[in-house]
Amino acid sequence: MVDETKLNQFIGQMLGDLGGALSVSLVRIGDRLGLYKALHADGPMTSAELATRTNIAERYAREWLSHQAASGYLSFDPTNQKFTLPPEQAMVFAEPNSPVYMQGGFDVAAVMMENQALVEPAFRTGRGIGWGHQSQCLFCATGRFFRPGYHNSLVTSWLPALDGVAAKLERGATVADVGCGHGFSTVMMAKAFPNSSFVGYDFHPDSVEQARKHADEHGVTANTRFEVGLASEFPETDLDLVTFFDCLHDMGDPVGAARHVRQALKPDGCWMIVEPAAGDRLEDNLNPVGRLFYAASTMICVPTSLDQPVGAALGAQAGFEKLSSVIREGGFGQVRKATATPFNMILEARP
Ligand SMILES: C[S@@+](CC[C@H](N)C(=O)[O-])C[C@H]1O[C@@H](n2cnc3c(N)ncnc32)[C@H](O)[C@@H]1O
Repeated sequence: MVDETKLNQFIGQMLGDLGGALSVSLVRIGDRLGLYKALHADGPMTSAELATRTNIAERYAREWLSHQAASGYLSFDPTNQKFTLPPEQAMVFAEPNSPVYMQGGFDVAAVMMENQALVEPAFRTGRGIGWGHQSQCLFCATGRFFRPGYHNSLVTSWLPALDGVAAKLERGATVADVGCGHGFSTVMMAKAFPNSSFVGYDFHPDSVEQARKHADEHGVTANTRFEVGLASEFPETDLDLVTFFDCLHDMGDPVGAARHVRQALKPDGCWMIVEPAAGDRLEDNLNPVGRLFYAASTMICVPTSLDQPVGAALGAQAGFEKLSSVIREGGFGQVRKATATPFNMILEARP
């Protein structure tokens, strides 16, 4: 028996969900054509003013602005026909260093839509999909998605939460950032701690190439280098710190990676593992953040891991208990949750 009230509630939810899904391309157009930036910099505008300011056709500007106002992304004043990007929305759409900047999330959504052609057949075969074979620039999207969190927390809160690590980095430590992708985390640490030396490893050659460019642009090549390498094989030893940012669960053999990190560290070294925030049981993760991460996990993380030897496929919502057991199996005696944000948990492992 259908409950009319519940049906209406669910249809309301679906309207919101579909509205969000249909907004992905519009938000990305606004990002790429500098429409949010213009509204942020110059304040309220009519469609004609935005069109002139950003060199686009007025008819398209008007339709895009109308959609944004209907979405609650912009406000609209009927008395003067002007559209405004409110300060809260600007943090999400127009301020790349804000902790809640989400343009990277829309890029990831676009990648995932295109990935359907690859992932749907994999549901039947059970095979994986290589990180380097995924759609569009997954690597750019991922880097952009995670960067605001790292920018706002890594140096100021996450590293200081680890026992004695920030002081060591100040004095001069050796660090490997493994699964570094485009190297945002590596470059941030290298800038903050010029007495320390950093090497970033990733098994995806194009990402390593981008990371090198990025280090060059930020002037940190004196204490930073990037190399192509597997988490279970990188050659460094006697390291003070090894960092894994949002990548342990993507690896085929996370226990093998843990074992390798264990032997690459000094006896008093530290392994910092940043992973998506998650509870230990499915029922703990049935919430909006869990929803985002399970989606990305199905379309990106699980296929990436299944494509590699062992294929552990921990999933992006592995949770502290599961991650701890992987880390301990790799030979670490101590694991603790050093700190957390709504999106990430920061683990500290010691030999
Ligand atoms: C979700 S991305 C995170 C990238 C980066 N750490 C960041 O936070 O932006 C996962 C990264 O892990 C890398 N990766 C996956 N498996 C790997 C492995 N076995 N060895 C080295 N890198 C690996 C991928 O190439 C990718 O760059």
